[in-house]
Amino acid sequence: MRGNAWPGTLLLLVTLLLDPHAAGADAAETRLNILVYGATGKIGTHVVTEALGRGHAVTAVSRNPARITRRHENLSAVKGDLLDTASIRHLATGQDVVIISVRGVIGDSKTPESALQWLAVKNVVATLREMGDDAPRLIHVGGSGTLEVRPGVMYADKLPRLFLPKDLELEIEGQILALDFLRTVDDVNWTYATPPKNLTNGRRKGTYRTGGDRMLKDERGRNLISRADFAIALVDEAQSNANRKQRFAVAY
Ligand SMILES: NC(=O)c1ccc[n+]([C@@H]2O[C@H](COP(=O)([O-])OP(=O)(O)OC[C@H]3O[C@@H](n4cnc5c(N)ncnc54)[C@H](OP(=O)(O)O)[C@@H]3O)[C@@H](O)[C@H]2O)c1
Repeated sequence: MRGNAWPGTLLLLVTLLLDPHAAGADAAETRLNILVYGATGKIGTHVVTEALGRGHAVTAVSRNPARITRRHENLSAVKGDLLDTASIRHLATGQDVVIISVRGVIGDSKTPESALQWLAVKNVVATLREMGDDAPRLIHVGGSGTLEVRPGVMYADKLPRLFLPKDLELEIEGQILALDFLRTVDDVNWTYATPPKNLTNGRRKGTYRTGGDRMLKDERGRNLISRADFAIALVDEAQSNANRKQRFAVAY
């Protein structure tokens, strides 16, 4: 039976005009296999939702996949640990893009090298190198401490270290190490996606701006975005690879 398709078509057109990233808008183009490390995390859960909404196949990783309670025909929940390189190789096989959005400090060395963000990037890059031409792309969720507030001065340089929790300080330094390292990597297709200093649980507005090394400010001088809108930028990058082998910054 054929009904009148116009109202539905019109609604879709209006939706896409208002929000070009609307769920399903890009799904028909290329369906990607996306591996998400940190899928149970504050940013990672939005990445999973955004990618599924666009019709991609998502493999969500957790050290305890029972924590991933969501059910969707294009979602698989799997066990994985970024400290276990054999498991990275296993999970990365057949993927188009690996997204890393994790945090933590490993051990008690109190060195930047103990930040999980650094260890994750190091281990994933080593794995992707081994995979050669079959390697997926890497998108790493970086740290705003790496953004420049003035030419040559990072936001991390301006933070009052005395008042920072030690683990957070190590993570900020680990994120700087990760970016410095990635900038030396030429044989893996990487992107360092840099969030602003303030991430909120605000609604998905469907808008964001991108920049380079410089911290982006909105009209009220704020450097922020909702996690939902940051996830749009990440999935857009997964689809476009517009920032191949470079960092980019995201904010309103
Ligand atoms: N202003 C900023 O610069 C800013 C602000 C916020 C976040 N960030 C960055 O964004 C990223 C995500 O932050 P978030 O707040 O969303 O994190 P979060 O909510 O604390 O989530 C952390 C994630 O890390 C995963 N994880 C921990 N250890 C792991 C391991 N060994 N192997 C695999 N996964 C592991 C956890 O998964 P399981 O426990 O399920 O295994 C969890 O999903 C971090 O890199 C953080 O530095 C930056």
